[in-house]
Amino acid sequence: MIFEVKIKNWRSHADTHLRFQEGTNVLVGPNGSGKTSVLTAVEFALFGMISDVESKKVKLEDLIRKNEQRGEVEVGFISPDGVEYSVKRTIMRGKGTTWAELRKADGSTVISGSTERVTEKVCEILKITRDVYERAVYSEQNRLDYILELRAGDRKRKIDELLGLSKFEEVRKGFGSLARELEILGEESKKKAETLKKDERLQKLEEFKRNLEEIKQQYELKKRELAKISQELDEIDKEQQRLKEIEKKISEIKTERWQIEGKIEQAKNQLENSRKTLGEMAHVSEDFLISKKDELESKFKTTSGFIEEKNKTKEKLIQKKSELLADGRSLTAGIQRLEKELVVKREKRKKLEELAAKKLKEEIERLENELKRVGGEIGRLKNLEVELSNAIAELGRAESTCPVCDNPLPEERKVSLIDKKRADMEEVKRKIALLENEETEISGKLRELRREANEEEILRRETADLELKEKELAEMREKLSEIQVEIPNIERELSSIEEEIQMLENEKKNIEKEINRILEVLKTRRDMKELEKLIEEYANRSKALEEQLTKLKLEFDEKKLSELEEKSRDLHQCLGGVQQDVKNAEKEIDRLQREIQEIEEKRKTIKEWEKEAEVRLALSGALKALQQVVMRVQTEMRQEFLNEVNEIMNSLWADLYPYGDYTGIRLLSEENDYVLQLRRRGGEWINVDGVASGGERTVACLALRVALAILFAPNLKWIVFDEPTHNLDERSVQELARVMRERLPGIVRQIILITHDPMFEAAVSGTLYRFSRDKERDGPTVCEQVSVEHYGFPADMSARR
Ligand SMILES: Nc1ncnc2c1ncn2[C@@H]1O[C@H](COP(=O)(O)OP(=O)(O)OP(=O)(O)O)[C@@H](O)[C@H]1O
Ligand SMILES: [Mg+2]
Repeated sequence: MIFEVKIKNWRSHADTHLRFQEGTNVLVGPNGSGKTSVLTAVEFALFGMISDVESKKVKLEDLIRKNEQRGEVEVGFISPDGVEYSVKRTIMRGKGTTWAELRKADGSTVISGSTERVTEKVCEILKITRDVYERAVYSEQNRLDYILELRAGDRKRKIDELLGLSKFEEVRKGFGSLARELEILGEESKKKAETLKKDERLQKLEEFKRNLEEIKQQYELKKRELAKISQELDEIDKEQQRLKEIEKKISEIKTERWQIEGKIEQAKNQLENSRKTLGEMAHVSEDFLISKKDELESKFKTTSGFIEEKNKTKEKLIQKKSELLADGRSLTAGIQRLEKELVVKREKRKKLEELAAKKLKEEIERLENELKRVGGEIGRLKNLEVELSNAIAELGRAESTCPVCDNPLPEERKVSLIDKKRADMEEVKRKIALLENEETEISGKLRELRREANEEEILRRETADLELKEKELAEMREKLSEIQVEIPNIERELSSIEEEIQMLENEKKNIEKEINRILEVLKTRRDMKELEKLIEEYANRSKALEEQLTKLKLEFDEKKLSELEEKSRDLHQCLGGVQQDVKNAEKEIDRLQREIQEIEEKRKTIKEWEKEAEVRLALSGALKALQQVVMRVQTEMRQEFLNEVNEIMNSLWADLYPYGDYTGIRLLSEENDYVLQLRRRGGEWINVDGVASGGERTVACLALRVALAILFAPNLKWIVFDEPTHNLDERSVQELARVMRERLPGIVRQIILITHDPMFEAAVSGTLYRFSRDKERDGPTVCEQVSVEHYGFPADMSARR
């Protein structure tokens, strides 16, 4: 029994809490108020899935209330063994089911986390699957009579599915088609075997085997013959080989002898040529030639020595000449330099002599004394000038006495005295000026004289070595003239020595030529000796070869060789024939063996196919028998199910339908359909579909649904109806409400009924909820529980009760 449902943010529900009781619980409300949403919440809480999501009509997250992120459903239920549980599931936008848990009434967790495991446990506790819940317990909105609404074939299939009979049907069909397939295959195998059997060669196996044995014996004989011929041929080949080798050797020796004779001829020619070239030298003794050669060689050495000495002398002369030339060059340069120097010095000496004639020292001394005297005179006159100036000044200041003699000094006197003094002073000044002019003149002269005296001194120093240099120049000139005489002498000496060297060189060349000629002769004579020795050796070799040839000629038998060749040709021909026979025999053996193998394989295949056909046909027969068995089981199970359904429906019928016109109800299996029927009072059965009224049809369908619920969920005893009042008139609704309130709770433990029809409120015997919702503003579902005690049943309903 479900005793509690809590819904948060599920479709139109924001936060709904419902409590249910045993008996009929009614949820009533206008369209879109959120009634069906409660049932989807219950199914999702119990099984973690609903059919609309499974069939992808909606996504799981579409179930979360608009603008919310997370929805939650919780169902409290009592198990068939009387234990209280609570199952809760949470879904989140974009994440699916994020949490599931199953708890007991005391709050202890049975399973939490995995949504699959929670579902498994709930199914185990309720002893039901979601599939059975959907088909037997939960009658979806307006689908109470859906079994009658289906087409004949679909109805049969649906009910068979519920019964689990569809699986048997599949198996049965499977057996049938398998049996047919096996039968076809078996027949095919049989046919194949028979086709193969038609081959005539199958009868000839023994004959082929006999032929094979005979050919094998012939083959052995031919092979032996072949071996014998091959051996004979081998021996002939060997003898032929031996004779051919001797023949080859003979020809080789002949060639070699011919070559040696040629070489002897050639050597003899060479010898003759050499003799001719040497002429009489061919007869001079070798010792003489060697001593002559030695003598020439020592002469060569001596001449070489002379040449060397002469060359040394020549080198020395060249050296000396180049030294003299260098001395001459440096002397010439020295002379030129000295000559230039002497020209300058002689000029200077002339100037010096001119200056010395002026007697400069004495003149300087005289002028110096003159300058002293003039200087002294100027000094004395300047003192006198000062004295006169002072006297004039004192006289100017004096009053009446003379400042010199202290005598009275009248003014005229004073004036005349001053004038006189002034005249004296002028005289003194004039004298001073004259003397100063004289002094300047003397100083100028003195400066000129001193410069000249200085020049004289320098010139004297510079010309002091004039004579020495003159002497040096004369010596250098003498020396140069000596060198100029010596150089031609050396040159003459050099040319005579060069002539001598040339002569000696010529002599040396002649000696060398002579030595080479003797060496040539010696060599030719030695070569001749070699040639003579070689000719002797060749002659020996030729003789030896001739002896060998004579011996080999005795061994070689030309006639025998040609006989052997002929025999070999014959044998080869014979061998070809035998080899062909052997090959043919081999081919025939191979052919017969293949033939025999093919026949044997064919026989094996025939046997295999026969066996296969036998097995397949037997299996096909067995499957057909099995198909019959399954069909019987199917029929029996269906009948058993119908018996049970009919039994339950008839036991309910009197309670569900309290009128006397229909006394019984049954579900009947026909060819390809199930038919729901009602029994008239007189015993006649009529089809509910088509004959019964809407109300009778609804009650009949109710009976069928209740029977299915009891049969398939016997422990649960719940039944859920969503809008079962489809097509019912007011009276029928009232009737059904009554049945639900009064009869049904006695058969099942809990009914949850959903309706938009307020008339149906009368069905309540448990809890009644009125649902409403402000759809204009997208408001949440509002549930109001109505107290049943205060519920006033319509008058006629109470009367009927
Ligand atoms: N995710 C959602 N968020 C908000 N409202 C939703 C959501 N899904 C469905 N609804 C609305 O919830 C309302 C209730 O739907 P529900 O099927 O439960 O109504 P009902 O009471 O069974 O109506 P009726 O009598 O017509 O069958 C509907 O109006 C529907 O549009
Ligand atoms: Mg609905």
